[in-house]
Amino acid sequence: MNPDAQNPSKTSADAASDSVSKPAAGAEDQVAVVSRADPPQHDPERPLALRSVREQVEVPRRTARKILVLGATSGIAEACIRQWAQRGDALYLVARNPDRLAAVTADARTRGASSVGSAVADLDDTTTHPELLAHAINWLGGLDVALLAVGVLGEQSQAERSFSAAHQILHTNFLAPVSLLTWLANYAAPRHAGTLAVLSSVAGERGRRSNYVYGSSKAGLTAFVDGLRNRIDREGVRVMTIKPGPVKTAMTEAMKGREKFADVEAVATTLVKTIDMGKDVVYVPGIWRIIMAVIRAIPERVFKKLNL
Ligand SMILES: NC(=O)c1ccc[n+]([C@@H]2O[C@H](COP(=O)([O-])OP(=O)(O)OC[C@H]3O[C@@H](n4cnc5c(N)ncnc54)[C@H](OP(=O)(O)O)[C@@H]3O)[C@@H](O)[C@H]2O)c1
Repeated sequence: MNPDAQNPSKTSADAASDSVSKPAAGAEDQVAVVSRADPPQHDPERPLALRSVREQVEVPRRTARKILVLGATSGIAEACIRQWAQRGDALYLVARNPDRLAAVTADARTRGASSVGSAVADLDDTTTHPELLAHAINWLGGLDVALLAVGVLGEQSQAERSFSAAHQILHTNFLAPVSLLTWLANYAAPRHAGTLAVLSSVAGERGRRSNYVYGSSKAGLTAFVDGLRNRIDREGVRVMTIKPGPVKTAMTEAMKGREKFADVEAVATTLVKTIDMGKDVVYVPGIWRIIMAVIRAIPERVFKKLNL
């Protein structure tokens, strides 16, 4: 790959965002006029003359945000997309399964997204990342938020025996995100704006016998995202490390005790809110911050005897 392709501040990204003369539909500030019914009759504080007048109240509508979702058919991403669509944001959705992507795109339109673009892409192919990202940002007319939701759980037992199985997990969960985030960071930093929200996992906090290959891919991702934040937060770009505990999605469908896992809609509500706030590190549900503090504190001589 041309190394300059990872430097969007100098190459196609400027063309990508700067050549766009119109913002995405509905992205400009708008004012909604809302009619309110007559005020109640028994209001001694109100001047009589106003009681029978129908009021016109100007309510400023929030500016639609330009949101890129990488891994848009993920259960967690889909739930966030539903909420962003409902509030009228502009969305660009990337996933590898065309049928499921078409369904998510159609659903987002129905729910009220101001505009929805999409691209089918296998994100393991890092050579396509620069063109894909430049195109997405060009289509959106800028970038407020990128949510990176791609991930595979993989088969731990297989990955213990086969390097190629382990490599696949590490590639999808770590190397491909590093490629995407390097490009996005180099796009956002010189523009001093944007939020990069990355789904890592509590599994990255301590190597466990039952899932250390997946866990190590997320540990690498967490360290990369934390370091990236320390590099570009001062440029005005928010970089979020999101650490979910177990959530009811396709990824955990075959797991024992699934009924106790977090509800995906509740997780999405937390994520949509904390992405707006631009938090640094988010455990979701929040109880996992405490659980992981306890798990990290267990001495290794004890931990290695546990069946975790
Ligand atoms: N669910 C949990 O308990 C949990 C806990 C902690 C962290 N997380 C993390 O949260 C993120 C979202 O997970 P989820 O729970 O929403 O699981 P999910 O529904 O299985 O979503 C994973 C998504 O990644 C996509 N993907 C995998 N490889 C890809 C590739 N090469 N190119 C494009 N897309 C690819 C999958 O697409 P296909 O459907 O086409 O395969 C799927 O849409 C993941 O990073 C996961 O590791 C999940």
